[in-house]
Amino acid sequence: MNVAMSGKGGRAAARAPLVGLLVAAEAPRAKFLPAALARAAAAPIDARDFTGKELETALVYDGKQRVLLVGLGERKKLTVETLRRAGAAVVRRARQFRLDRCGVLLAAGAVASAEAGRALAEGMALGNYVFHGQKSESPPPLVKQAAVEFSGTAAERRAFATGLAQGAVIGRAQCFARDLGNHPSNVATPRFLVEQARRAVRGSRVRLKVVARAELVRRGFGGLLGVARGSAEPPFFLEFDWRPARWRKSICLIGKGLTFDTGGISLKPAQGMEEMKFDLCGGAAVIASFAAIAALQPKVRVFGLVPCTENMPGGRAIKPGDVLKTYGGLTVEVTNTDAEGRLVLADALGRAQELKPDFAVDLATLTGACVVALGHKASGLFCNHVDLAERLKRAGDEAGERLWPLPLWDEYLDEMRSTVADLKNSGSRFGGAVTAAAFLRKFAGDLAWAHLDIAGTAWDVPRNELYDGGASGVGVRMLVRLVEGLE
Ligand code: BES
Ligand code: MN
Ligand code: ZN
Repeated sequence: MNVAMSGKGGRAAARAPLVGLLVAAEAPRAKFLPAALARAAAAPIDARDFTGKELETALVYDGKQRVLLVGLGERKKLTVETLRRAGAAVVRRARQFRLDRCGVLLAAGAVASAEAGRALAEGMALGNYVFHGQKSESPPPLVKQAAVEFSGTAAERRAFATGLAQGAVIGRAQCFARDLGNHPSNVATPRFLVEQARRAVRGSRVRLKVVARAELVRRGFGGLLGVARGSAEPPFFLEFDWRPARWRKSICLIGKGLTFDTGGISLKPAQGMEEMKFDLCGGAAVIASFAAIAALQPKVRVFGLVPCTENMPGGRAIKPGDVLKTYGGLTVEVTNTDAEGRLVLADALGRAQELKPDFAVDLATLTGACVVALGHKASGLFCNHVDLAERLKRAGDEAGERLWPLPLWDEYLDEMRSTVADLKNSGSRFGGAVTAAAFLRKFAGDLAWAHLDIAGTAWDVPRNELYDGGASGVGVRMLVRLVEGLE
């Protein structure tokens, strides 16, 4: 979808076959509307059928044109999340009517204009997302062209336009992350992730190095190689590097790229195992974030590391009790082959230490226990650094991708001690998200590091205008924010 400012007088937006009018509760009869649209919108407002409550909608027809009123609620309480969802609501309605164009009109208000533009465009992109997969019927038409008219001063309009362009990039990147998650694992193999990562940064100045098996062996990526042993698909380790002309801060983004997790020899039950195609969602968020970074070109050095593999119970698979030597040199007794995410992340954290970034953040669908703890509405946040934790929380709040802190105390490592290696990879049933994080901490060394457990937020999250099932693409909006905050 191409989202653009409507141009002089806002005619393209006002004349679209469906036009969304985003109006506040105090003044649903918004003064900024062209007279013809204001007339069309009058009936539901006069009847008090529409009062402008947050995300309330009313549809009227003016001849052949469809006019969708969307409430923004009280002006003072307006949030970027409401704008995101309002943008998505307009696009969804256009899709429902199989229209390939729509328009949106709104006015400057409580949310800073650049933020408003970004949120609107993000929402419009996400509302336009469908994963059609391999159904035989032809895919539903999407909106191709959207025109937006923003009423405000020249400066406000300029800021809004900038935000709108950024939001389109970020929204598109998040849809890309959704696609990576939604593909079945026989399509989205480790090799497929390599191809998609290349595509994400093609033609940009982001460098991508793909480390294949021979080099993984030579360099000692024992965690990743161990997990990959049971699979016929070869593993890969992706290393992104965005090196702007000038930067003050650097950050390393790490994502778990398990293209399918059977559990390995510690096999998972059949019930619901198909969901484990989503086990690459941390990696997808990192890959897709680089697509956005390539376009937005922040003045921050950004590294990206994504270990990619399947976890399968093949004849050469690792077995409970086996010991692996990870990239940084620490050894791990694999007491449960289903605790594989932490093994591949251990390697990635070891590699991250060599890059010496100011900050490192990993995203992983790491534990079912995190879903038990926080449900589907927040990701678990574990962090060894106060400033980073605050930055992350803020970025998550602003992006509408919530994070909530859980502890990283050393006591949780008590149950991870091994008699034959430095650590074992699983503890008791209890506090599973926390023991997993405590394990990772050992591999983060002196990094200012955070671990985000996105097991509950990467798919099957609450549905609304922005999300309609499948992979959520969580992490992309938040990571872009976090990086921008380091400029
Ligand atoms: N990918 C899973 C975590 C997961 C499970 C995410 C269900 C979302 C829904 C991870 O690799 C895993 O299997 N974790 C185990 C760890 C245990 C064996 C210590 C878990 O959570 O059961
Ligand atoms: Mn597992
Ligand atoms: Zn897993």
